[in-house]
Amino acid sequence: MKIVPRMALSSLIGILFVLTSAWSQDDMTAVDNSVFSNPQRTPSVFVHDEHNEAADIDDCAECHHVYADGERVEGESSEDQRCSECHDLEGSDDRPTLIKAFHTHCKGCHQELKKGPIMCGECHKKGQP
Ligand code: HEC
Ligand code: HEC
Ligand code: HEC
Ligand code: HEC
Repeated sequence: MKIVPRMALSSLIGILFVLTSAWSQDDMTAVDNSVFSNPQRTPSVFVHDEHNEAADIDDCAECHHVYADGERVEGESSEDQRCSECHDLEGSDDRPTLIKAFHTHCKGCHQELKKGPIMCGECHKKGQP
């Protein structure tokens, strides 16, 4: 008699956990590549929170930036938007194409800090789903 409500409660907590984490970054393990119509590579490894902690990046806008008149707007970030909402596949005169936006950004920092992967297969791992 007592086991039933406890089981119901734990499964309810389980459902709530799945519902909330599905919309946040804490369970993100790779960068979604579905905007590329015919992906050539596996999605790049990127364990969002773990990565940013290991890399010691506090400012969300380091990646989720906002620009106005060619200048980065300090104190504002765009983490509610996909990179592809501003960077399309063709690019525009002042904005890099989506693939370039990712590569310049990710590899650029790794090269600058001499930390983090810069080889294709280190990010686009074989056998990744
Ligand atoms: C630091 C990590 C990193 C490295 C190193 C890297 N990429 Fe990527 N690449 C990404 C991310 C992030 C994306 C965006 C979407 C995704 O997850 O594939 C991407 C997207 C792509 C795409 C467009 C999507 C697709 O699969 O067609 C191609 C092609 C690609 N990369 C090829 C390469 C090649 C070739 C190299 C080596 C010269 C390379 N990448 C190195 C992170 C990386
Ligand atoms: C090192 C770069 C980087 C930093 C720093 C960063 N993010 Fe992200 N974040 C990303 C990338 C890349 C994506 C995937 C974007 C895409 O798919 O277009 C993402 C996606 C997200 C998403 C959407 C998750 C989903 O499942 O679609 C949220 C929410 C988010 N980030 C919040 C944050 C917050 C809050 C911070 C600061 C505490 C932060 N990010 C810092 C790179 C970063
Ligand atoms: C709200 C729109 C917006 C979003 C979202 C956005 N960008 Fe940008 N990004 C821009 C604009 C505008 C520029 C051009 C800046 C300029 O005028 O030089 C830019 C420039 C860049 C550049 C070249 C300059 C630089 O800062 O190195 C890279 C790389 C880049 N974005 C990567 C990304 C990545 C990766 C994401 C997702 C994590 C992202 N952007 C999300 C608007 C956006
Ligand atoms: C502002 C700097 C910065 C940016 C931007 C950045 N990284 Fe990194 N990354 C690092 C540092 C620093 C490390 C090494 C952390 C450590 O010491 O373990 C790292 C490590 C990694 C690793 C290896 C460790 C792990 O988490 O598996 C991967 C994969 C990686 N980065 C992918 C990416 C991708 C994909 C992007 C772009 C969406 C990106 N990084 C953007 C700084 C950055």
